Order: sequence, then C-alpha cells, then structure tokens
Amino acid sequence: MNFLNEVMRRHPKAISFAPGAPHPDLIGEVDVVHCLNTYIRHQAQVHAPDERKHLLEHLEYGPAQGIINELLAEAFRNDGMAQAEGRNITVTNGAQEALFLTLRAIFTSPNQVLAVTNPGYAGILGAARMLDIRTTPVADTENGPSLDDLGALIGQARSQNRSIRALYVAPDFANPSGNFMDLASRKSLCRLAQDEGVILLEDTAYGFSSPASTRPPTLKQIAPASTILIGTFSKVGFPGARVGFVLAEQRVQSVAGEFLPLASQLATLKSMISINTSPLGQAVIGGLLLEHGLSISALGERHRVLYQSNLKCLLLALDEQFGSSRKFAGMLEWNRPEGGFFVRIRTPMAVDHSLLARSADEFGVLWTPMRFFSLDQSCDNELRLSCSYLDHAQIEEGASRLRDFFEATL
Ligand SMILES: Cc1ncc(COP(=O)(O)O)c(C=O)c1O
Repeated sequence: MNFLNEVMRRHPKAISFAPGAPHPDLIGEVDVVHCLNTYIRHQAQVHAPDERKHLLEHLEYGPAQGIINELLAEAFRNDGMAQAEGRNITVTNGAQEALFLTLRAIFTSPNQVLAVTNPGYAGILGAARMLDIRTTPVADTENGPSLDDLGALIGQARSQNRSIRALYVAPDFANPSGNFMDLASRKSLCRLAQDEGVILLEDTAYGFSSPASTRPPTLKQIAPASTILIGTFSKVGFPGARVGFVLAEQRVQSVAGEFLPLASQLATLKSMISINTSPLGQAVIGGLLLEHGLSISALGERHRVLYQSNLKCLLLALDEQFGSSRKFAGMLEWNRPEGGFFVRIRTPMAVDHSLLARSADEFGVLWTPMRFFSLDQSCDNELRLSCSYLDHAQIEEGASRLRDFFEATL
C-alpha cells in the first residue's frame, strides 16, 4: 500500500490502475456527521435516552471486542452471510488487523502451515511473514483453490510431521486474481476442510460486488465450524473508518493451554496491539448500516453498480486496444471477471518494479506487478489492473497509454 501510494505521489498526472481503493465519489457521498447522529440517536432509543452521554462515550476508550457487534450480527443474518451473534464478533482496525490477529490466535506451533491461494492478497502474506508463520502456495483456478493441490499439500505436510492449519481464501472476486467460486466448488472446499480439519479463513472484502439475488452462500454458511469469516467496511463504507471484523465462534486452545472462545481471544490480543477500534469510526459505520436497513448488500449496492460498470468499461477498452490488433495476437491474455476491482494481464516478459517505473515515467500509466501477490514465480510475467479508482474516460485513456507502453516494451 505504501509502495503504491509513493508511486502515485511521484506521478500525480499518471492514470493509475494500481490502487484497490474505493472510488473517491463514493467516499465523498458519505455524510459522516449524519451517520454519527443516526447511530447516537439509535443508542439513545435502545438504551438510556441521553444522547450527549452516548456521544461522550464514543470519545472514550471502548471495549476491545467492539461496540457495533450486535448491529453487525443482525446485518450478517439479514444478508444471509452467517447465523451470527454479536458475542462471536470482534471489530478490528480493518480486515488487515483481523487477518493479523486471527493468524496470531490460531497458529500456536511452528509445525503449523498456512496455505494461501496463490496469487493471494499481499496483506495475508505480509501478516504471516511478520508472525513467522510458514506459508505454502495452493494453485488458484477460475473456481478458487485447486482441491487436488490442497489435498496433496495436506498429505505432504503430514509426511513431514506438519499440518496445514488454515487456508486463506477469498471466494468472491479475489484480490488480485478476480476469481469467483461457484456453489459446487464452495461445497467441495468446505467438505475437504471439514474432513481434514483445516480452518478456512474466508475473506469477504469483495462479497458485495455480487448481486444479492445470485450470490452463492458464504463458506461460513456452508461450513460454520470450519470457517472464520473476515471482512471490511473499507470498500462499501470508507477506508478511513478502519472498521473490519472477524466472526469466529470456534473455541481454540490459548498459549496457556485453555480452550477459550476465539472471539474473546482475539479481543485479548487486540487489547495488546491497538486497544480498540476507534469508537467514532465504528459509530459512523453503525450509522451507515442503520441507514441501509442493517444490510451490507444494500449498503454496497451503489458501489456494486459503479464498479461493475467500470469493470465492463475496462474489459471493453482492453478488447479495443489489444483484442483485434495482430501486433498483440498471442502476446497478451487477460481474464474477464464479472465483479470485484481487478483484471490480470499475462505478458511474455518479466513484470517488475523497473518496468513499472518505465510505464510511469514514459507512458503515464500505473499498475501493480502481480509478483507482489505471489509465493512463487508463477505470476512473474503478469500485472494487475484495478478499475476502482477511475472514471470511464480515464479508463479509456489509461488503456490507450497501456497500448503505447506494450508497443514499446514487448
Ligand atoms: C482482499 C482484501 N482483504 C483485506 C483488505 C484490507 O482491507 P482493510 O482496509 O479493511 O484493512 C483488502 C484491501 O484492499 C483486500 O483487498
């Protein structure tokens, strides 16, 4: 994130397909004061009718596990995401802290290995590295992690006296692959996880970008005991709120050997890292949810429509620039996700920092090397384009600049 921010800062006029950040217009629409008032009024209705007291409470330290847990649980139930209860939720500083805390809580021995769908979100790879957790890549397919690969890794780990403790997986238009798991592949993965005792770390960051009517059930719904659900309000709310969550009702052995509810262990760990998630940020997100009938799907609807339109525009622009040109025939390939923010392009050349620097300096267009997201060399020739931060005109101009860049470099 810092690297991408720095590249964007150095090239303010470049068109940036780099950040997976929400569109500035959508962030600008959030009326923070109104949402805060909605939440405080709601507190006054449900509890004591003293609004000033409730406001002041949100300027204090708050409970480590969070203050909007009951609202989140109701939203998860309303959206059919999970049969959740507030006491099993820990509110975190974004999904990033959720990933970090969860890894810290469930990995208790150096023989435990984290399997990561490869390519995978850079934040899980970084968190595992910081915690000295051994990782292993699982090949990604259009339908999510390869079960053959996962099965083989489980066997291999066992033969080395290790175990695959958990698999990180993002079933809904993953970052960076854009892959989406259909119902059958979700069920098969859940069955394997249940049979083999592997925890599924389900990252739902882009779940909102499927229409509610066609969205398959979450892994958490299919296999609640095997799955820990992790999510964020950065994409459907705003990233500056820094509000994410973990839903985990499992009981896990603590370092001291006792079996405790995971959500409360996460809160204990959190109290040593960030004390609590800002009550003001939580209150604003609580207000946003109340304004949208306690539904993350409803809250994300405008976002879904805008990003789907941007994605279509990007795919069309790539077709126009590269699809019909004989010059590029057989050289560039890209996937066609139906949601999320990302498209990946495979090229015949190594794609690295220096190529990005050339693209920025000479052609005014930014993107992200896919190698940032990979545990092996399988993505070294690929780049990731994000459509989330741009308007249609910028996307079309950016694709034209990409054409100039590829003409010069391929
Ligand atoms: C798949 C995925 N998970 C987690 C995150 C982190 O989100 P947050 O801003 O909530 O920390 C991101 C952010 O881009 C993401 O793409």
